[in-house]
Amino acid sequence: MKIINMDTLNEKQINQSAQMLTDELPLGWAAFGEAIDEIKERLVPQNTLLAAVENGEVLGWCGILPSYEGKVFELHPLVVVKHMQRKGIGTMLVKALEDAARSRGGITMWLGADDDKPDGETSLANVDLYDNLPKHIKEFDPGTHQTAFYLKMGFKVVGVMPDANGIGRPDIYLAKRL
Ligand SMILES: CC(C)(COP(=O)(O)OP(=O)(O)OC[C@H]1O[C@@H](n2cnc3c(N)ncnc32)[C@H](O)[C@@H]1OP(=O)(O)O)[C@@H](O)C(=O)NCCC(=O)NCCS
Repeated sequence: MKIINMDTLNEKQINQSAQMLTDELPLGWAAFGEAIDEIKERLVPQNTLLAAVENGEVLGWCGILPSYEGKVFELHPLVVVKHMQRKGIGTMLVKALEDAARSRGGITMWLGADDDKPDGETSLANVDLYDNLPKHIKEFDPGTHQTAFYLKMGFKVVGVMPDANGIGRPDIYLAKRL
């Protein structure tokens, strides 16, 4: 498996990447067209988009977007095809993004992870985040949510946007020093 820049992907591989986004994150990209638009919008020189490719098939992809004059990079998005999850591809992609951000002078990488399923998955869902937020963050429990993956990658919860996806459904901010 190789990690390559997405600006080298052919149309079929771009379509695979878009389909993966719709399949795995339907609350963010409900339709294939929206996922294609996302890739086209992000695939510009100031960002870095990387894909994990094996035998011509895209197995996962991810990107970083610079801000704060290049000191900070937002990780957005990250997805691994369903049948290849939990095999280390997400880890390889995040490490490659960290290297890319570091080589561009980045100090911090961050991301927002929506806890947007109706019942909520983490300890920050369906609680009053306006009451003692530091305690909620200190006692953060990812439950079944993908934030568990980012905690394993060394990210820490640094903030939260209450009700970002409706009452009790926050966006959780995680960051890491590079
Ligand atoms: C989250 C995601 C990118 C992780 O990629 P992956 O290739 O499956 O992750 P890895 O195999 O590298 O896992 C690394 C570690 O994180 C753990 N992990 C991965 N996904 C996890 C999850 N959803 N919940 C809990 N732990 C998880 C793995 O078990 C592994 O732990 P270990 O080192 O103790 O064995 C992938 O599952 C995915 O695409 N999910 C759907 C889309 C998504 O949620 N994207 C992120 C949006 S913010």
